[in-house]
Amino acid sequence: MKTRITELLGIRHPIIQGGMHYVGLADLAAAVSNAGGLGIITGLTQPTPDDLAREIQRCRAMTDKPFGVNLTFLPAVKPPDYPGYVRVIVEQGIRVVETAGNNPQKWLPELHKAGIKIIHKCTSVRHAKKAESIGCDAVSVDGFECGGHPGEDDIPNMILLPRAAEELTIPFVASGGMGTGRQLVAALALGADGISMGTRFIATKEAPVHQNVKDAIVASSELDTRLIMRALRNTERVLNNASVTELVALERTKGDKLEFKDIMRYVGGVYPKIMQEGVMDAGAWSCGMVAGLIHDIPTCQELITRIMREAEDSIRHRLASLV
Ligand SMILES: Cc1cc2nc3c(=O)[nH]c(=O)nc-3n(C[C@H](O)[C@H](O)[C@H](O)COP(=O)(O)O)c2cc1C
Repeated sequence: MKTRITELLGIRHPIIQGGMHYVGLADLAAAVSNAGGLGIITGLTQPTPDDLAREIQRCRAMTDKPFGVNLTFLPAVKPPDYPGYVRVIVEQGIRVVETAGNNPQKWLPELHKAGIKIIHKCTSVRHAKKAESIGCDAVSVDGFECGGHPGEDDIPNMILLPRAAEELTIPFVASGGMGTGRQLVAALALGADGISMGTRFIATKEAPVHQNVKDAIVASSELDTRLIMRALRNTERVLNNASVTELVALERTKGDKLEFKDIMRYVGGVYPKIMQEGVMDAGAWSCGMVAGLIHDIPTCQELITRIMREAEDSIRHRLASLV
């Protein structure tokens, strides 16, 4: 299947693995890229730029296919060494960067000068248009269904994607809720040039996370995620668990008076405990509604082959037979 995204990124299938904190390590990125998608290493999971350089080299030893790096720009009291991460990305010859969070404008000249393609992830049409206007090469449009940060507009992909298609001229991928071949076909029909998946890729053999995390996703339905931190305008979709139930109750009690320090113990620095040690109630962790469509733990190759086969069958047989 050829789309503007496969052409832009030099990949076989229009499937991207979105950056994921403590999940997007070299092992997963290489497995996705070897299967013909675009794997992405999550930059900020690496404590320093030198660690990122080593992770990129580790990935390169496992694949000769293109892979990218995610750079998430978050407001922070003590910001990470962004200039250092950007320098390493350029020095290591990375060809694709997924930016997320704040406006990436400041970093575009340096990245573009090195021939790097920028896919900016956003949750609204106005931010997608802004990304196009500052020179991003593509956008990843994250609908309300997504795991992680869906923004504050609550527009699901059934509306968000065709709205993006109305407004954008650069290629875009559908992100949030994606996990199957039928959904890939739907995303293409709505105007997207491919899909990006987060949660679905956690439940794969190569995802370098504790088995408990994968099992929790398989055991969950589409009813099992919760939105947290809305009062802080930092909404996050997470999988429900004992800790999230407590957090949500606390948020109800505090209402508009909620401050970050009130919930710090549920969200601050909990990822290593969850992703590496498998302590599932240690805190809140991002997970999308697509959990309801995830019933197994395949290899990335099996997953991508299945999605592409289902998509092609769906286009050739089911859809073609209707007209
Ligand atoms: C566990 C987890 C961690 C994530 N961490 C990041 C991150 O650090 N930076 C980022 O830009 N997106 C992050 N995301 C969002 C994903 O890249 C992607 O946009 C999202 O998962 C898409 O929705 P889906 O889970 O329904 O596929 C994360 C998602 C998950 C599930």
